Amino acid sequence: MEKSQKAATIIILGATGDLARKKLFPALFGLYKNTKLPKNIKIVGFSRRNFTNSDFRNFLIENVTPFKDSNEKIQSFLNLIEYSEGKFDDPASYEALIGLLQKIDTEFGNCSDKLFHLAVSPAFYELVLQNMYKTGLTLSCTDGTGKTKIIIEKPIGHDLKTAKEIHSLINKIATRDQIYEIEHYLTKETLHAARALTEQENLQKIWNNEHIESIDITLFETKDIEGRGEFYDSLGALRDVGQNHALIVLSHMLQENTEEKNVQKRRAEILKSALALKSTDTKEIIRAQYIGYLGEKGVKENSEAETFFKFPVKLGDKNWEGVKINIAGGKGLSKNEVGVRIIFKKPESFNLEEKNLQNIKEILFKIQPDPETIFVIESGGEEIITLKGKTYQGHSSESYEKLFEEVFKGNEDLFVSEEEIESSWVIIDQIREAWIKLPLIKYEKSEEPLRIGHANKKGK
Ligand code: BG6
Repeated sequence: MEKSQKAATIIILGATGDLARKKLFPALFGLYKNTKLPKNIKIVGFSRRNFTNSDFRNFLIENVTPFKDSNEKIQSFLNLIEYSEGKFDDPASYEALIGLLQKIDTEFGNCSDKLFHLAVSPAFYELVLQNMYKTGLTLSCTDGTGKTKIIIEKPIGHDLKTAKEIHSLINKIATRDQIYEIEHYLTKETLHAARALTEQENLQKIWNNEHIESIDITLFETKDIEGRGEFYDSLGALRDVGQNHALIVLSHMLQENTEEKNVQKRRAEILKSALALKSTDTKEIIRAQYIGYLGEKGVKENSEAETFFKFPVKLGDKNWEGVKINIAGGKGLSKNEVGVRIIFKKPESFNLEEKNLQNIKEILFKIQPDPETIFVIESGGEEIITLKGKTYQGHSSESYEKLFEEVFKGNEDLFVSEEEIESSWVIIDQIREAWIKLPLIKYEKSEEPLRIGHANKKGK
């Protein structure tokens, strides 16, 4: 061990769960392989199972896809991992974890940075954070060496009220710069490439309500809930991807270039400007569920959880007032299509990468499956630009590699602030309030999303 080097310990709470197995351990291994982890590093898995270190490493070999092909690199990575058995509701388990962390710091010869990842169901956030606080796990080193950071997954809260409760707890137990609230869509390079494009001077001029008629944000997936019944059923599609991924796409794309350098604040401004829904808007809201959902494991009998949603948003922001914005997303649909469609009031012409684009009626920024930008030309043609830069395809472990790297750097731009989360809940709470009165539409799996709620308005 190189004692003078800065050391870090990553603690995965919920280390045998789905997220840890599918995303976190593969991402940490990816960083390790590419020598992007601090040189002095330890990873600690915390979970209920009665495992020794070696049992846990074997569990990872059996359950983490990249580890199945055991080789020297994987072995040396696995040797960095230790295990701490514990229950989330048992303070003694946190004391035992502290003991292990102290032993690790003694081996390092200094107080390491601690990075806790709450890979647990949101239902446990409060309990885990309270117990971490009570046992002193949220504290950074008193000698100013290692800093403690906490990564929390979405969704934060169930509505505005519960989001505020979690935030007030967070503010009691830690300082804001210790907290990283994850929004993995912010690692999608398409979004950053799209923004760079719209910031070009000649596009910037038409990036407002004088030129833009409507904006559609879609998150369509063909896959179903893939065995995540219990988790998904407690949320529904709107809370699973609407409150977070869809609204971050909106606020990221529409944020203004102002004197304000803090991007979290710039994005929050857009969400804060959302106007109250009027009864005429509620006719445009759709909540629907694919047929067969009720038979999925973990789903409650007669569950009303939606697997598809559509809702309008109106902004009061001076640049975007009057633009029709529609957001839709869901699972079990006929196509995978995640992206943003911009429709102009009248065809526009502008220069782009030395090309002069004429009579552009719409721009489609495709995030998934094939990241590219398509300019639809009035006469019916298309100009396709493949976006440069790497896109983190899918909800992949590469997104998490990027997120871990940013946490190490202390860069919060790719995470969301309290203000952003709470402003998005204001919008979602309104939609939920309105749609309780609406019928839950049933659709066949593989349904064409634009038909849901129109050709298919059968109700329950
Ligand atoms: C996750 C949701 O946050 O995002 C999933 O829980 C969804 O239900 C996923 O499928 C979509 O992410 P991506 O990166 O695959 O578009």
